[in-house]
Amino acid sequence: MAESMSGLHRSHRCAEVTENEIGTKVTLMGWVQKRRNLGSLIFIDLRDRSGIMQVVFDEPVAGSEAFAKAGDVRSEYVIAITGTVAKRSAAVNENLKTGSIEVMADSIRVLSEAQTPPFPIEAGINTKEEVRLKYRYLDLRRPDIQNNLILRSKVTSAIREFLTQEGFLEIETPILQKSTPEGARDYLVPSRVHPGSFYALPQSPQLFKQLLMCSGYDRYFQVAKCFRDEDLRADRQPEFTQVDMEMSFVDVDDVLDVNERLLAKVFKDAIGVDVALPIQRMTWQEAMDRFGSDKPDIRFGMELTDVSEVVKNCGFGVFTGALENGGTVRGINVKGHGDMPRKKIDKLVDFAKGYGAKGLAYVCVNEDGTVKSSFAKFMTDDEMSALVSAMNGEAGDLLLFAADRYKTVCEVLGALRCNLAKEFEMYDPSEFAFLWVVDFPQFEWSDEQNRFLAMHHPFTMPYEEDLDKLISDPGAVRAKAYDIVLNGCELGGGSIRIHQSDVQEKMFEALGFTNEEAHDRFGFLLDAFSYGVPPHAGLAFGLDRMIMLMTGADSIRDVIAFPKVKDASDLMTEAPTPVDDKQLEELALNINIPQEDE
Ligand code: AMO
Ligand code: AMP
Repeated sequence: MAESMSGLHRSHRCAEVTENEIGTKVTLMGWVQKRRNLGSLIFIDLRDRSGIMQVVFDEPVAGSEAFAKAGDVRSEYVIAITGTVAKRSAAVNENLKTGSIEVMADSIRVLSEAQTPPFPIEAGINTKEEVRLKYRYLDLRRPDIQNNLILRSKVTSAIREFLTQEGFLEIETPILQKSTPEGARDYLVPSRVHPGSFYALPQSPQLFKQLLMCSGYDRYFQVAKCFRDEDLRADRQPEFTQVDMEMSFVDVDDVLDVNERLLAKVFKDAIGVDVALPIQRMTWQEAMDRFGSDKPDIRFGMELTDVSEVVKNCGFGVFTGALENGGTVRGINVKGHGDMPRKKIDKLVDFAKGYGAKGLAYVCVNEDGTVKSSFAKFMTDDEMSALVSAMNGEAGDLLLFAADRYKTVCEVLGALRCNLAKEFEMYDPSEFAFLWVVDFPQFEWSDEQNRFLAMHHPFTMPYEEDLDKLISDPGAVRAKAYDIVLNGCELGGGSIRIHQSDVQEKMFEALGFTNEEAHDRFGFLLDAFSYGVPPHAGLAFGLDRMIMLMTGADSIRDVIAFPKVKDASDLMTEAPTPVDDKQLEELALNINIPQEDE
């Protein structure tokens, strides 16, 4: 029978009691982690979000009724106890914060009984994630997940404190917005009042924060929920949180400066890590050339080497063919792994193919200076030794080459580099290596849409000296856009915004919008800017990713209280679900699910 707690007041959280309280009376409430009956003594490990306290029932102290009640409680019962703090009679438990003390109980109330949970409520269990997420309310009781969420709260507090001190105002922007597709797919919400019309959930507060600058708020921030209907990966969720900010009267240096000081404060406050300032900067071009990625992990080397010049006249058609088609040939040197078994190399080839490569050519440099290679038969000895030396290949090295379009070569070698470094433990997993990647290209060609797309978004300011290339040579225009990268993960990004209407119009033209289309979608922003707009710029961090990296969690799901799985469903509530016909009728919606082909 569940009892009430009337008349009782919790005095401490379980693990907040210290040796200073020895001899004093405490009232603790929480969940039963474990009960052990040892004849004349009953031990209960009592748990709350702070940790565990050992509670001891000794019949002469507690009385026979309480003693009997304590003997009946089971795991996950919610109980309240009162008792006196004492030094542990038995050995100190080094694994517990409260390992040197215990509470000699004199009363107990059972506030709630509990079924046996489907998995143990403790850290580091290897229960399937589907089961954990179906019972997320139990999973959330486990200390590893609790610590992640407690850290998350610490981080948002530190962010609010810092930004408020720096003169930023926290302002909310709407969740029900106009759909302005450009970027990811929108989540849509049908309107009842305007049948056939839809709101979109925000992909980010981008346009509203720019309007706030137009309205004179000067420095804005928000811990903002964002929604994107895109394919999920380990570091992506359909709804996620941004720490979003915008500033007026600033240029790139001002934005990077305030944001790197923010990172330094947050990493220090939350996990005690010192971030050395200023954070290193690298252009997008350099990042791609050296690391094959616009979010390079700079904790280790194994950089890409361009060998196009070396192989341009060689006998290997795969290399020369790629070069003749305007492509490139690049390689990485996996130092000391020249003895990799053939089977394993074949796996690397498959991995590369997964990133769009047609193949992966390799050279193992033997101890005697000879080579074992997938293409040696196509090369003269001189050509091979020129290639090996261009790669700084030494005895025992494994050289891997991709020949293709620049973009494919970068993607393939960039991914291989990270994968191999992880497998061969080429870096210290506890290191935090921050990097600003700057000067992104303004546009990115889409084969699918046969047009240029904005790499960041259509409101990003190009370099002044590249403005004349907006229409004539869009591929060569650099943007005043920057990303903050941590250990190979894109932690955040932003840009200087266009505040001149003629530049914005040219931008829309370059993106293939007619004047009418541009006004239809973004008219309110263009109109607003015609009433006087300050130069402005901003950035957004992915909060979930930040916490994931801080905690070393494998997945973004472990730092979100109620996450969704790969197919964007919630295994606990089973959302999304069909709705009543009546609801559909009110919204004037008909459901028309295409029949799957047999
Ligand atoms: P961007 O689209 O780069 O920029 O997003 C900013 C940061 O948000 C995080 N992020 C995500 N995190 C989890 N799941 C997702 N699906 C997801 N998508 C993005 C990333 C990313 O770096 N309005 C601009 C910012 C600006 O220009 O000020 C924007 O949204 O960490
Ligand atoms: P092939 O003559 O097509 O059998 O290729 C010989 C070797 O070159 C094999 O090891 C292939 O994996 C590799 N290879 C094929 N295409 C490419 C490419 N585009 N880039 C790098 N290596 C390739």
